[in-house]
Amino acid sequence: MGGGNTIHSYEDARRIARRRLPWMVFDYIDGAAGNGVAEARNLAALQGIELQPRVLVDVSRRDLGVQVFDHTGQVPFGISPMGMCNLSAPGADVMLARIAAKHQVPVGVSTVASTALETMIEEAQGHAWFQLYFSGDGSGTAKLVERAKAAGYKTLIMTLDVPEVGRRPRELRRGFKMPFRIGALQFLDFALHPRWSIASLMAGAPDLANFKTPGFTFDRTESRAAANWDFFKRLRDTWDGNLVVKGVTDVDDALRLREEGANAIQVSTHGGRQLDCAPPPILALRRIRDAIGPTFPLFYDTGLRSGEDIVKAYHMGADFVFFGRAMQFAIAAGGRDGLSQMWRLLAEEASLTLAQIGRISLPGKPFLSE
Ligand SMILES: Cc1cc2nc3c(=O)[nH]c(=O)nc-3n(C[C@H](O)[C@H](O)[C@H](O)COP(=O)(O)O)c2cc1C
Repeated sequence: MGGGNTIHSYEDARRIARRRLPWMVFDYIDGAAGNGVAEARNLAALQGIELQPRVLVDVSRRDLGVQVFDHTGQVPFGISPMGMCNLSAPGADVMLARIAAKHQVPVGVSTVASTALETMIEEAQGHAWFQLYFSGDGSGTAKLVERAKAAGYKTLIMTLDVPEVGRRPRELRRGFKMPFRIGALQFLDFALHPRWSIASLMAGAPDLANFKTPGFTFDRTESRAAANWDFFKRLRDTWDGNLVVKGVTDVDDALRLREEGANAIQVSTHGGRQLDCAPPPILALRRIRDAIGPTFPLFYDTGLRSGEDIVKAYHMGADFVFFGRAMQFAIAAGGRDGLSQMWRLLAEEASLTLAQIGRISLPGKPFLSE
């Protein structure tokens, strides 16, 4: 891949992905809740954060390694769990698992992943975290926990910001459904994007791979609204590995989750895909860090688009960060090579940013004492 198809930024990847993906798939990945206000406000809040350049600090030996739980990864970011990644290109999930393994950082494996959780942890050489959704009466959720345990998962991400699936007008307009329903609009869409359609046809249409096993069913639109603190207590009692709670922006929720035994909180608004008037999570991160103190692990995702953004999130109190759409657009734009380009550019930008601000590493907490 060269010239106009080289990825020098998130926008490059998004632009190429937009050309290659069917409208329905692009709008599913790129879309947000409502009018996209939550997403836009968070991006603006991120843009508004300044990092102070410093001079005459020897920054020649910079190290991007960051410890997450008992493991040190080589880069300061991981991959947030995303459903149906193989929509961006056949084999996308496995590409994500392998790049996470290579850099020894976590890849989130969604409940609604397009590759089975057992395959993902193997491909990620153990660097996979299973992401759980509560749904219906919770009995299916409990079965998934057992299955994750049996597959060797040590960390569970419990996503709690989807009591109901958010309304995302862009995907609704395109008729996005899993499994696909192909009417005239979708047929035209696929015909106009033959590169994607032929590759996906040859690989077999992506589906909800964790639910092909007998006894496991999932309806994306089924209500997830019945999850409550009792459910969380039961989950904490049955899962003795690390428990990360994703989708928290409220200080009181964060403090109670710590009390109830969460091992880490992932501050996030699901990429702005759930509630259009949600507060910018990058600002919530700082509020939660101030309230919860310097030692409790806080992770962050939503709206990160560059290496500078990585450093900004650490500056706001994160101990580790995760990317969502950037990874899928990189794969849609250039497959495995596109993903490597995105990975390199994020790491390089983060490293250059550290150099500018007179730092050689990314310890989250000392940023706060300034
Ligand atoms: C296409 C897509 C599918 C997603 N699926 C899930 C999911 O199954 N489970 C989950 O916890 N989060 C899911 N997310 C949210 C991501 O984990 C993450 O919070 C979000 O993408 C981060 O924002 P960013 O895309 O701006 O980096 C999804 C996001 C996208 C874009």
